[in-house]
Amino acid sequence: MEFQNLLYEVEAGICTLTINRPDKMNALNQETISEIGQAVQAFEEDESIKGMIITGSGIKAFVAGADIAEFSSFSPGQAEKMAQNGHRVFNEIENCFKPVIAAVNGFALGGGCELAMSCHIRIASENARFGQPEINLGIIPGYGGTQRLVRHIGYARATEMLLTGDMLNAADAKEAGLISRIVMQEELLNTCREILTKIAQKSPLAVAQILKLVNRYYDAEQGGFETEISEFADCFDTEDFKEGVSAFLEKRKAQFTGR
Ligand code: COA
Repeated sequence: MEFQNLLYEVEAGICTLTINRPDKMNALNQETISEIGQAVQAFEEDESIKGMIITGSGIKAFVAGADIAEFSSFSPGQAEKMAQNGHRVFNEIENCFKPVIAAVNGFALGGGCELAMSCHIRIASENARFGQPEINLGIIPGYGGTQRLVRHIGYARATEMLLTGDMLNAADAKEAGLISRIVMQEELLNTCREILTKIAQKSPLAVAQILKLVNRYYDAEQGGFETEISEFADCFDTEDFKEGVSAFLEKRKAQFTGR
């Protein structure tokens, strides 16, 4: 399949989806989110593909977040639509009946960390960094981060990360339970392929049931996703949002006032 911002490659029954905007640290603009949705749907519909790897182009970034330049001028209404679209696509990944592995090859920040967390398994290279730096822009995560980070690493660590915007390195992410393995960058994709090849030999029915049931464990929390979407939209009506994104784009430190 051909995409503007993605590479979709299938080999030996495994699809590798590469977010391909290397000059923008693979930041997710709206078109990329929509393309990921289309790619995941194509993957689900193709019976010959048994598993998917999601990774970022280049050696520096998995995905450095939503595209700040794009959303810097968004209204609360546009922000709400942006969050809804992201949630729909990331829920589709999480609820997929075939395994999806995030091969985290560098920065996984904001929407990148949220994308990785919507995958079923996360394998990282040694240079991977995880964070939800939205707070530095005067906003909050809008693609599930406030909910999934708590699930993955627990209340105390998640709250500290969300409030400080600090990053975890690969070793800390593994220790926190956010990823299952750290490998050398050159071995990252092969390791993911090996895992998916092993799973492909199991009963697809049992695989689908396990994926459904591990997600089922979290059903009770779904109300948080809806609240996150509306609170994310509200952020776009504040002076702090305008200050936060302008500061990033002008490469300076933000001065927040609470308005
Ligand atoms: N959205 C839009 N553009 C982004 C981006 C994002 N989330 N992250 C990086 N970029 C762009 C930069 O603006 C820069 O573009 P330019 O060359 O046109 O100036 C380019 O990608 C390279 O990034 P740069 O900041 O110069 O690289 P770095 O190595 O100094 O820092 C990061 C890398 C990832 C730490 C830094 O880019 C960063 O903090 N990104 C934003 C992370 C973030 O806040 N994400 C959450 C968004 S909700």
